[in-house]
Amino acid sequence: MWRRRCSPPPTWRRWSATPARSCTWRTASWPCSRPTASTPSPATPRETAKEPLTVDWDAGHYDTGGYEHYLLKEISEQPETITRTMSGRLDERFHVAHLGGLNMDARETRSFRRVKIIGCGSAYYSGQIGAQLIEELARIPSDAEPASEFRYRNPVVDPDTLYVAISQSGETYDTLAAVQELKRKGGRVIGIVNAVGSAIAREVDGGIYLHAGPEVSVASTKAFTSTSLAFALLALHLGRVRDLSPADGRRIVEGLRRLPGQIEQILQQGDKIAELAKKYAPHPSMMFVGRVRGYPVAREGAQKLKEISYVHAEAYPASELKHGPLALIGPDMPTVAIVPDDELLDKNLTTLGEIRARGGQVLMVGHREPDAKLADDVIVIPRNEIELDPILLTIPLQLLAYHAAVALGRDVDKPRNLAKSVTVE
Ligand code: AGP
Repeated sequence: MWRRRCSPPPTWRRWSATPARSCTWRTASWPCSRPTASTPSPATPRETAKEPLTVDWDAGHYDTGGYEHYLLKEISEQPETITRTMSGRLDERFHVAHLGGLNMDARETRSFRRVKIIGCGSAYYSGQIGAQLIEELARIPSDAEPASEFRYRNPVVDPDTLYVAISQSGETYDTLAAVQELKRKGGRVIGIVNAVGSAIAREVDGGIYLHAGPEVSVASTKAFTSTSLAFALLALHLGRVRDLSPADGRRIVEGLRRLPGQIEQILQQGDKIAELAKKYAPHPSMMFVGRVRGYPVAREGAQKLKEISYVHAEAYPASELKHGPLALIGPDMPTVAIVPDDELLDKNLTTLGEIRARGGQVLMVGHREPDAKLADDVIVIPRNEIELDPILLTIPLQLLAYHAAVALGRDVDKPRNLAKSVTVE
């Protein structure tokens, strides 16, 4: 029997045409596939150094469960999926989040001076929500960048930066390649991933699994909200080892606990949102605007609409409208405005006035009905802590996109030209 210790030259994996042989060094974390002429193939089952992995998904996740489409099922599941994402991770005694999967002690958790988040498409937009949460709660400079751009620009990799890769599938090639580039340069990378045991999950140093269950529809919905929620947990975790007070920690923990019931309340407005979708879907183009916390929500809303209904949609920071896109506003270009009741409310209401003054229709998503002159239609959502607003504001936009796609007769779960997991460059 071959008893030499295995060392892990990277080329060994490529020798896989030769039967892999077991290694007596049981702690080895790579397959020992070194071929030798003197060792014939074993007749008995081969040992493996790999640990078995149990995935808690069942067959019920793969039918539509009585819904017309997977997408509607996945939107409707969000009270449960976000409950699963936070389950067992919130501590009411110290008002912290327990994230053992990060594999980091408190001293290391305190040591990071920046957070850099990478992901593609909707994962990137949830990263923008995450960057804001981390800056607000942990006061660490943070930003998000498309992984597809990051990997090509020869990034400076900083030892004091925590890198966070986001992926529902865990198989997106651009994100995986960016993680590999970071690791190659010695970066500390964690993952926020839904698919257990996926390529990105295996590549990172630790992370947070979403436990949202399989997402079948091409358009991401429940993974988006669970990722945003995972960022709230990460921000709480980073904040509470720094300067976030116990009182603010408690405020966020209690806010997180309220989210499932509040999402349920928004879902109950499904019929009203379906009517609004019928009204707005025939327009060739729509504008989505929001400020600060509302801006990534607007980007995700526009992404959902264009992806499944094929209606052209643009997202802009509301503050940028007058620097160019205001020229597009008119009766043919309605605006979906994200207007939470936060410190930017007055500025957002001024923007609505500017849009209406140019003959543009406004569908507002926020916490209260504004003056009738400022919006044609309003979707009111429940109040929570302002830092958590993006999670609740996203839900009506998912429903709006879904019902617009249905009204236009689109292939909701498999939109043209798109794949669920983009495993090529
Ligand atoms: C979302 O609706 C899109 N289908 C797409 O942007 C997706 O989020 C992106 O391709 C990233 O996928 P991942 O989360 O599996 O990495």
